[in-house]
Amino acid sequence: MRIRVLGSAAGGGFPQWNCNCPRCREARSGRLAEESRTQSSIAVSADGDRWLLINASPDIRAQVLATPELQPGRDARDTGIAAVALMDSQIDHVTGLLMLRESTTPLPIYCSERSEEDLRTGFPILEILSHYCGTQVHNLPLDGQAVEPPEVPGIRFTPVALTSKAPPYSPHRADPQPGDNLGLFLEDRRSGRTAFYAPGLGEMEPQLEPWLASADVLLVDGTTWADDEMQHTVGGRKTAREMGHMPQTGPGGMIEHLRRFPDARRILIHINNTNPILDPASCERAQLAEEGIEVAHDGMVIEL
Ligand code: MLT
Ligand code: MN
Ligand code: ZN
Repeated sequence: MRIRVLGSAAGGGFPQWNCNCPRCREARSGRLAEESRTQSSIAVSADGDRWLLINASPDIRAQVLATPELQPGRDARDTGIAAVALMDSQIDHVTGLLMLRESTTPLPIYCSERSEEDLRTGFPILEILSHYCGTQVHNLPLDGQAVEPPEVPGIRFTPVALTSKAPPYSPHRADPQPGDNLGLFLEDRRSGRTAFYAPGLGEMEPQLEPWLASADVLLVDGTTWADDEMQHTVGGRKTAREMGHMPQTGPGGMIEHLRRFPDARRILIHINNTNPILDPASCERAQLAEEGIEVAHDGMVIEL
């Protein structure tokens, strides 16, 4: 199984269009220009030909252009994207679907029933796409059952319901339920190698333990270093936890949790532009290195 990181930043990307925090400034023109990152998405394949796109970022056009495997030239219109899976209905994870409207066949989309509802009401992308390529929606089970999408042979995944929040435009924003936000336990059916992907992980709940403990790779929420980071860098109103993201530091933070899985390759993804780990020379980044934790970057390839 090959996992290709298409976008490793949180919503807004790095740098964010209107942000003048120190790191965004440096990414725009200075020392951190090479560290730019597009918005949250990965692609997974067992055969290198047929890819499962996991989340469809607003930056998908640039991501496909940067990824030759996703643009094979076998036909007049062609793509390596065989199916799409969505972790939630957030803008940074679904807007790219609109950019796939030129597809010559209906897009196979795997998502929870809750996300489908959001994408037919508050943010009706699926309705809009019915006027273009159309979609073929498959609702994901939340009972621990694995899914083997026929479009991506050799890949099996199990959706894991996570505690978080539906987006602001969701009709069930005020009523969080399982299915609003998912993690995926990914398996290569031939090698048996596994990865757990959760770009939005608000809480380390006990039911996650077996998934985290058995994965060879943990590709998890790296949004912020500190819980109050958005407030003190850009005057944001909400803490990371209030937005459904576990910070790296502080009691019950991500670093503390990841120490329990020393045998897995541990990688942070969905990194917000305010996070000091985006600076490779920062002491926060050195601290991660000491813990053996990696920081995802666009184009990163994980072979399993
Ligand atoms: C989130 O994960 O909280 C999102 O990145 C927010 C957004 O896209 O606006
Ligand atoms: Mn996000
Ligand atoms: Zn910024």
